[in-house]
Amino acid sequence: MSNYSDPDWAPQTKVDLQAYNTLSLPVQADYFSDLCQLSDLYAAHQFCHDQQLNWLLLGGGSNIVLTDDFNGLVMHMALAGKAWLTPDQLHHRPAQNRDDLVYLCIGAGENWDQLVAWSLAQGAYGLQNLSLIPGLVGAAPIQNIGAYGVELAHILHEVMVFDFVTGEEFCLTAEQCELGYRDSIFKRHPHWIVMSVTLVLSRHPHIHIGYGDIAAYLEQVLDGPATQATPQQVRDAVIHIRSTKLPDPSRIPNVGSFFKNPLVTANKAQQLREKWPDLVAYPQPNKQVKLAAGWLIDQLGWRGYMKAGVGVHGKQALVLVLESTTANKMTGLTLLKLAQEIQADVEQHFAISLAVEPRLFGKVGEIQMEHI
Ligand code: EPU
Repeated sequence: MSNYSDPDWAPQTKVDLQAYNTLSLPVQADYFSDLCQLSDLYAAHQFCHDQQLNWLLLGGGSNIVLTDDFNGLVMHMALAGKAWLTPDQLHHRPAQNRDDLVYLCIGAGENWDQLVAWSLAQGAYGLQNLSLIPGLVGAAPIQNIGAYGVELAHILHEVMVFDFVTGEEFCLTAEQCELGYRDSIFKRHPHWIVMSVTLVLSRHPHIHIGYGDIAAYLEQVLDGPATQATPQQVRDAVIHIRSTKLPDPSRIPNVGSFFKNPLVTANKAQQLREKWPDLVAYPQPNKQVKLAAGWLIDQLGWRGYMKAGVGVHGKQALVLVLESTTANKMTGLTLLKLAQEIQADVEQHFAISLAVEPRLFGKVGEIQMEHI
């Protein structure tokens, strides 16, 4: 339980959040504070508790849609720091005792991609496939970030949590985080704030190049077998591939994939394949099949669509975008209306419900697409 609160601490008032969300939506927060040190978090907790205020925690703002001014305190995660831990410094003893493994504890406010670059330079490997994912370290366990065949679940050891309702701190093992595809226990406990994340990396330069275009791209660059690539070369390949498909949020406002890839039964996938022979589908270990939502949306002609400043990226139909020149006059609701049109179209043609990937916030807190 936090029992320390700085009497001089005070939030800013009436702060524009445009610079704090990658959609550049011009939403105002009644109160705002950076959380640079633990005492800021404790003081913010006390403040919200005393004033009975709504609160919202922002990381990199790269996976949220703000639909209205926020009536309460918006906190911006900025807890920094990186520390190598020995196995006996961990909260939870490692299950395996391998000499090549190293443990790195990182503050939730550190930038994810800078961490990836730094870890490779330190000779600690495992994060290379997760290069260029926007956002902060603290957001990584919340949606179990994943790309190019690797997800956080493969390299997470434990997570330090602050409960914003009770003020208690505790440490969850990776298993206790219940990580699934773009899912974790944090989605079911939105008042749990990630303070730091401890990853388990390897001194051995193992690489994973089985996903999509990575191996083909590496072979071309290396003029030899892709299996000989270094983790840094895998990072360079991922950066290259991502940059060609995904819009840079600093130039084109977006939040990455707007929908999750749907999981369907093998029967359902087979039925669809009869009508759509080119269906992009990935069989999962649990006999389900994951469909490429981008492919479904693309088939219906949405890729490259743009109307009244809101549209679908021309190179990846899973990404909704705002026109940079008008984003500062937009509301998130306009974007959500387009998302609903796309959902209805996919439902009508494929009988599949697409789930929204980013989190949505209204005047007093998180909202669900169904209630818009
Ligand atoms: N496709 C199309 N048309 C499109 C988009 C995709 O035909 O407009 C096809 C592609 O040709 C490809 C397949 O769909 O065969 C899959 O596309 P891609 O490799 O781009 O991956 P994705 O399934 O669309 C997921 C993640 C991305 C991640 C990539 C790579 C989700 C919701 N998205 O996208 O994550 O970078 O795989 O691993 O799982 C994010 O979460 O914000 C994100 C960008």
